[in-house]
Amino acid sequence: MDTDRIVLITLLAFCIPMAYLIFVGQQASQGMSNQMIAVTDNAFGGPFTLVDQDNKTVTEKDFTGKFRLIYFGFTYCPAICPTELSKITNAMKGLGERGNIIQPMFITVDPERDTPEKMKNYISLFNPSLVGLTGTPDQIKQALKGYKIYAAKVQDAGMSDYTMDHSSFIYFMGPDDRLLYIFKTEDTAQQMTDIIGQWLDAENVK
Ligand code: NI
Repeated sequence: MDTDRIVLITLLAFCIPMAYLIFVGQQASQGMSNQMIAVTDNAFGGPFTLVDQDNKTVTEKDFTGKFRLIYFGFTYCPAICPTELSKITNAMKGLGERGNIIQPMFITVDPERDTPEKMKNYISLFNPSLVGLTGTPDQIKQALKGYKIYAAKVQDAGMSDYTMDHSSFIYFMGPDDRLLYIFKTEDTAQQMTDIIGQWLDAENVK
């Protein structure tokens, strides 16, 4: 093989993949900075009427206009709910000052046991800006349906009380009620901070 040929092969072997990577990287970074793609184009969640931790009746309209992180769970949850609520708190801390514009919300899937008082005590363990919502079983049922959350009572033999099986998504919603992103249990607080930060950049939040 002559030298020219080796040079040509080397060029092809390195330059084409590099050009491709640079092209893909540019596309990806453009996507991150100003072309974030929301999960829904329209308003998500639908109407609800619930009661907050101070016994005040609230509806979905009280939260429109705010960035929100919404988690559904219950105060007796042994492991997942506390982990996810801590994660929300840490993700917001990671955003610094900008985190203050996000309204974190915890909505119970267990209205029979989660009274406003219970919710108030529980959320105080996590984040002072958390709102804790409960309601009648029918009101909660409507909220679960609107937000596409699965929840069911589970009664194990040998257990004196029931527990709840439930979806464990953290919804990130925009001021216009679009669902921007769904965080899952495997996402870390740092990943949440990064993705939310990209959204705030895209929406020109300083
Ligand atoms: Ni839970």
